[in-house]
Amino acid sequence: MSRTVHYEALYTEIRSVLDGERDAVIWMSTLSCLIKQRFGFYWVGFYRLVDGQLLVGPYQGTLGCLRIPMEKGVCGACATRQEPIIVPDVHEFPGHIACDPRSNSEIVLPVFDAAGNLRAVLDVDSEKHGDFGEPDREGLERIVAEMREIDWTGESSPKP
Ligand code: SME
Repeated sequence: MSRTVHYEALYTEIRSVLDGERDAVIWMSTLSCLIKQRFGFYWVGFYRLVDGQLLVGPYQGTLGCLRIPMEKGVCGACATRQEPIIVPDVHEFPGHIACDPRSNSEIVLPVFDAAGNLRAVLDVDSEKHGDFGEPDREGLERIVAEMREIDWTGESSPKP
């Protein structure tokens, strides 16, 4: 199965599993799990934007850095530019934060709320060099677009 076909199936799976859910932690945890399980990427997770810093959120993989300043790393660059970033070789990215030296390539996407405010970034890391391309950007952008309508306050009402 090509990666594009996998993303199509993943999107359908996510729509089904998270149907009616609006809680941000449920979304971040479940997406981390489903993306990691489908592709076997090394690290999949979210950093939330809180008071101008990126704080680690739900993730699957080895220990992630707890806090990332906006001016540091691929995550900080993505949050600052507010656009997806693909890095074929993280060791050549200026300011890259090596939470785990086994990670070699990376894609990071911004996550916005309904008002268009940046709420988090989705960080996906691979042990392979150059593992991410357009199919990943398109597939993951479509997935994070589904997070626009969720509730980031932590006070979401029960699933109807
Ligand atoms: N490599 C990221 C840091 C986060 S982790 O790898 C889990 C970065 O440069 O922003």
